[in-house]
Amino acid sequence: MKPTISKRLLQIVNTLPLHEGMRVLEIGCGTGIAAREIAARFTNIYVLGVDRSAKAIRQSVKNCTAAITAGKAGFRQVAIENFGNIEEEGTFNLAFAIRVGALDGRHPEAALPALKNIAKALYPGGKLFIDEGDQLKEIDPNEIAKTLFTKK
Ligand SMILES: C[S@@+](CC[C@H](N)C(=O)[O-])C[C@H]1O[C@@H](n2cnc3c(N)ncnc32)[C@H](O)[C@@H]1O
Repeated sequence: MKPTISKRLLQIVNTLPLHEGMRVLEIGCGTGIAAREIAARFTNIYVLGVDRSAKAIRQSVKNCTAAITAGKAGFRQVAIENFGNIEEEGTFNLAFAIRVGALDGRHPEAALPALKNIAKALYPGGKLFIDEGDQLKEIDPNEIAKTLFTKK
């Protein structure tokens, strides 16, 4: 039986400003449960889940077969800070990361390259949401760009 979504993940998905036609990037998708929930809610949506763990990606593929077959989800094993060719995956309207160390302050050395890659992947005006375990925060990609510019 495929795992059901937790109350916490459901709450986060409910909070994200998702709509038809979006391309969504999930960083640190784990077992793909949030991606599967998003794909199920819309007729026309695409969610790319990335995770550095091969096991997580294998589980995501297993948990999201219907969404993948429908062309609504895809998964790729890569650490976001090493995703140098992220533009090959197209451009995204919204990115989110839930409890991912590179983005929630636990691995500050990975944060800058990770944010740089996310900024490259987002359309101008694209949104980035990061969950740090207590609340979902929207990070302004323009602020990211400024940070990158000053810290490069
Ligand atoms: C605590 S789990 C959270 C999984 C899922 N987001 C959730 O909340 O249920 C963190 C996930 O992020 C992945 N991860 C951690 N650092 C990463 C990075 N730098 N790039 C991509 N994935 C990463 C881990 O392999 C793991 O699957």
